[in-house]
Amino acid sequence: MLITLEGIDGSGKTTVWEVLREEFPEFVFTREPTETWYGEGVERSMGDDDADSLAELFLFTADHANHLSETIRPALAEGEVVISDRYSDSRYAYQAVSIEDHVKRPLEYIRGVHQPWTRPPDATLYFDVDPETGAARSGATNKFEQAAFLSQVQSNYERLFDAEPERFVRIDASRSPEEVLDSAVNAVERLLEDRDE
Ligand code: TYD
Repeated sequence: MLITLEGIDGSGKTTVWEVLREEFPEFVFTREPTETWYGEGVERSMGDDDADSLAELFLFTADHANHLSETIRPALAEGEVVISDRYSDSRYAYQAVSIEDHVKRPLEYIRGVHQPWTRPPDATLYFDVDPETGAARSGATNKFEQAAFLSQVQSNYERLFDAEPERFVRIDASRSPEEVLDSAVNAVERLLEDRDE
């Protein structure tokens, strides 16, 4: 089973991922961007305010392709539960904003690029926080962490949510860290129970 964590910057999902890792040491924990040379390419692009947004989409996508072959597919083939901090929905939500001047219907375009070869998540915990809080919490340290940008990213997450409500578990991430963590641990436990039924 593949569970992904998604949300705008500052939604607190990386903290949740770290806590889940302690709660469920038997699972495989991974993330995008990855810590490979593909991921380093992504980080370089993210640090460059003038990076070409289409090139950046394909760097993220290359990193995802390698993540699938190196980590995700082998772990799933072994029957592992995999929890990934960000995954394909991050591209659908973020790059659909960053490439919107270049491509018509960018969200559909990026989904179409992934669709033939990706492995969709079985479930996605969506950490829902308003863009102002997200930008303030994240400290606006990269080019994506601005409230106006995050607001568009959030609209894309909502579109993804509406298209597949059964895949998503919405977690109100504006609450205290303890409450958010409790909800996330409960959500994972419920997903495991549903799978075992
Ligand atoms: P990271 O340092 O991992 O931030 P966070 O802890 O908030 O996840 O950097 C991830 C950044 O990259 C974040 O701003 C979202 C962005 N991103 C994309 O734009 N597209 C993607 O496909 C992925 C995986 C991340």
